[in-house]
Amino acid sequence: MEPRAQWPGRSSQSAEDDAVAPSGVSPLVPGPNSADTPQLDQPQLVVVANRLPLRRTVARGVEHWERSPGGLVAGLAPVMAGRDCAWVGWTGDGNGSEPFVHDRIRFVPVEVTPSEVEEYYEGFSNRTLWPLYHDAIRTPEFQRSWWSTYVSVNQRFADVTAQTAAPGALVWIHDYQLQLVPGLLRQMRPDLRIGFFLHISFPPQELFMQLPWRKEIMEGILGADVVGFQVPIAARNFSVLAKRLTSAQGRGSVLDFENRQVKVGAFPVSIDVGSLEAIARSDETQLRAKEIREQMGSPETLILGVDRLDYTKGIEARLTAYKEMLFDGTISVPERVMVQIAVPTRDSVPAYMEQRLAIERLIGELNGDFGQMGSPAVHYLHRNLDITELVALYCAADILLVTPYRDGMNLVVKEYVACRTDSGAVVLSEFAGAAQSLTSAYLVNPHDVQQLKEGILRAIVAPPGERRQRMRALRRSLLSWTAEDWATAYLSSLTSTETA
Ligand code: F6P
Repeated sequence: MEPRAQWPGRSSQSAEDDAVAPSGVSPLVPGPNSADTPQLDQPQLVVVANRLPLRRTVARGVEHWERSPGGLVAGLAPVMAGRDCAWVGWTGDGNGSEPFVHDRIRFVPVEVTPSEVEEYYEGFSNRTLWPLYHDAIRTPEFQRSWWSTYVSVNQRFADVTAQTAAPGALVWIHDYQLQLVPGLLRQMRPDLRIGFFLHISFPPQELFMQLPWRKEIMEGILGADVVGFQVPIAARNFSVLAKRLTSAQGRGSVLDFENRQVKVGAFPVSIDVGSLEAIARSDETQLRAKEIREQMGSPETLILGVDRLDYTKGIEARLTAYKEMLFDGTISVPERVMVQIAVPTRDSVPAYMEQRLAIERLIGELNGDFGQMGSPAVHYLHRNLDITELVALYCAADILLVTPYRDGMNLVVKEYVACRTDSGAVVLSEFAGAAQSLTSAYLVNPHDVQQLKEGILRAIVAPPGERRQRMRALRRSLLSWTAEDWATAYLSSLTSTETA
């Protein structure tokens, strides 16, 4: 299979959202105002996301741009190719920068100062909205100063976007950090077609109603022409709340709001399957996968977890289940080993620091109680992995555990399935958006340790024929809806003024 269109200068890239996209270390594009690139004045498509898909580093006094972790890259690359596009976002550091063009895409950095990072990003985005939108797994914190910084940073994103977009352009705004941008932008540029897509889950009214700024957030999102979610239940939650909190009215997938029609729907995000599959099939990757298994003592079963180190991911739930299985003798080391990759994330936020301590303590206990000399019960890495190493690990693992308490989609599971052209098994939380389509996984409730243990055991003892059959079904589902399908479907809904 031909690899799909890729982001300029990348060998491959996981899709956005929670995919544990690798961190690149080599310079990928020239610095700002690069002389060898043409200027671009009239972007017809403007992507607006909290982060640019590149970040700035300085090595030996020279500025470079390298790929940043996460990013919406894989899904958007195919729809951006061949159009004049711009990408508006934060560079991930405190410095501003001039816009620069590379490969017909204008990158427009938005400055966010260190104190704004604390209040807008760490505070309102990740201590208020993130827990509130994830079942209040941690208590959301409501601070008025964070809210006012969220408003002013959203205004800045809207201003920069208004100055960037060509007349009548499509503007696609992404995620919970920027929920006010659709409304703010519409006030300044009513000529634009504005889309908003939420990558994380959207809560039911019982939770959302806690938010002191609930009405402002709803009105902000309703500034869009198309509001997209990962799954239908999130779209329904949104419509119910829109009608309760604002003047919006309507039934089904179209709301009437301030003399406009707003389409609301589910557009499940996916990944660039072809690129990952190509890496997985290469001889180097297959060799490395074999080597990994040997390094781990050639276990009968290699069980893998790969997550951003986030408290929503249910890492401790799966470690607890694994621990109980070792304790009650259902499984033993070194026949079964586990690898947990925890990708560093948001490590200035207290709940994330606590989560790291909790997980590392649990892993210490597991290894102390059940490991052997040279054979730990859990191999633990707290870092980003290079894409080729990650794919090799996916190829080496017999079972992938994806056990979030709540997850908009979860792309790690899709990455694993993309890489498994033969067999393999997935234990998947029913609270991940991916569970809606990947129904041939072993579906579990991560709050139920007993069910988690049963799910893991079923995956371990499944006969090879069953595993192959399930993986075939998982792959069929994945291949029927890739990142490119997602982006194309969303943009055609945004382009079309039809509402039926
Ligand atoms: O899934 C939500 C999300 O915020 C994505 O937008 C982002 O790629 C990922 O989580 C990583 O988060 P952050 O940008 O906070 O590091």
